[in-house]
Amino acid sequence: MRSDRTTRRAALTLAAGLSLVAALPALAQDGEKIRIGVIGAGNIGGTIGTLWVKDGHEVMFASRHPEQLSAMVSELGPKAKAGTPEEAITFGDAVFIAVPYKAYPDLAKEIGPALKGKVVLDAGNATQKRDGALYDEVQANGIGMTSAKYFPDAKLVRAFSSANYKIFAKEGANGGRDRAGGRMAMPIAGDDPAALKVAEGLVRDAGFDPVVIGTLKDADRVAIGTPGFGQEVTAPEFRAKLGLGQ
Ligand SMILES: NC(=O)c1ccc[n+]([C@@H]2O[C@H](COP(=O)([O-])OP(=O)(O)OC[C@H]3O[C@@H](n4cnc5c(N)ncnc54)[C@H](OP(=O)(O)O)[C@@H]3O)[C@@H](O)[C@H]2O)c1
Repeated sequence: MRSDRTTRRAALTLAAGLSLVAALPALAQDGEKIRIGVIGAGNIGGTIGTLWVKDGHEVMFASRHPEQLSAMVSELGPKAKAGTPEEAITFGDAVFIAVPYKAYPDLAKEIGPALKGKVVLDAGNATQKRDGALYDEVQANGIGMTSAKYFPDAKLVRAFSSANYKIFAKEGANGGRDRAGGRMAMPIAGDDPAALKVAEGLVRDAGFDPVVIGTLKDADRVAIGTPGFGQEVTAPEFRAKLGLGQ
């Protein structure tokens, strides 16, 4: 059992590292469970991390004060743990970043090197009121490119950024199986095909249907205030609304 897991984790790392696209769909799509480090256990990190735990993944929720997460992880059971950001990165086969955008410059200095070669799902959005200068930077350069500037060595995929966490909690409940009309679309964007495959699997496991909208440059198509944001629709409906091919 342990050796199977170790072998699969090694395969995941190797495939992501070498961009062996053909090797990944089986890992990402067959329901294989991995370890996920969630940096920021607030509204979005707590919500999506919980959906992954309920699907059977092992999740380490990271906080600058991990002891404050003890009630949350004990309620989630043995597949949930709390740790520091550094511990969550070491733990995770993949990492999910869900912290206020204004924290990115300092966070990048602290954990950027440890993310080298890792598949990193990035939910961060910049708002004028909360993020100040970072908001201006995102307006000038785009959200995907700004995240890539701060985390240049990670295999970044924008994901779980395109709606309010309450929508994600509702639509992803019970693996999205209860949703009338089919699962909600989850737009994702990234430059690394192998990382996108991992992200597609994790989006499915959270209870959504992934829709690859393009590269990191295209991530602005689902930024706050655009027609792509907050769309509580199925994948075919989402593609039609954004004029993406089926
Ligand atoms: N809320 C939503 O509906 C939603 C939807 C899509 C995307 N997003 C984006 O997701 C990100 C997180 O939003 P949220 O609503 O989940 O925020 P939140 O509830 O305030 O949680 C953010 C977490 O990040 C951690 N954090 C805060 N400052 C940090 C820093 N300087 N360094 C490291 N960690 C820090 C905090 O944990 P500790 O204090 O315990 O360290 C906190 O629990 C934002 O960029 C937001 O735009 C949010």
